[in-house]
Amino acid sequence: MKIVEWNNAYKLGIPEIDEQHKALVDLISDIFDAVFNKKSAAECAPLIDALEKYTIKHFSEEENMMKSIKFPNFDEHKKLHELFIAKLKEEKDRNTRGERISVDVIHFLKDWLVNHILVKDKEYAKMYSGGGGFFKKFFKWFG
Ligand code: FEO
Repeated sequence: MKIVEWNNAYKLGIPEIDEQHKALVDLISDIFDAVFNKKSAAECAPLIDALEKYTIKHFSEEENMMKSIKFPNFDEHKKLHELFIAKLKEEKDRNTRGERISVDVIHFLKDWLVNHILVKDKEYAKMYSGGGGFFKKFFKWFG
């Protein structure tokens, strides 16, 4: 069962970032599927761990990119990333204690991610559109 599926409306037009967002959507969907099918906390653990690791990697790459173009809302955006990672860690710790992650929490993570992509990430994507191909060079240099 899928809680969310990749939708072209989520695309920012930056292929590397779009691929990472799609992977995050898939990871959240995997966790939902496990919880929906009443998998144990031990079975959910690697899925939550994978989401946490990939989220940290994605946020880090996105922040480096935003810094490199002096994105004006960088501090606010980074703070949102930190809050999401803190929430993930809280849920990971809860799961480690044997308390299964709830469907409500997965809905929260999904809603947060989708809204973040559609609103906050699209803010820097607008700079990308006006960046004369800068981001393509960025990913060529650092990808
Ligand atoms: Fe793609 Fe700001 O997270």
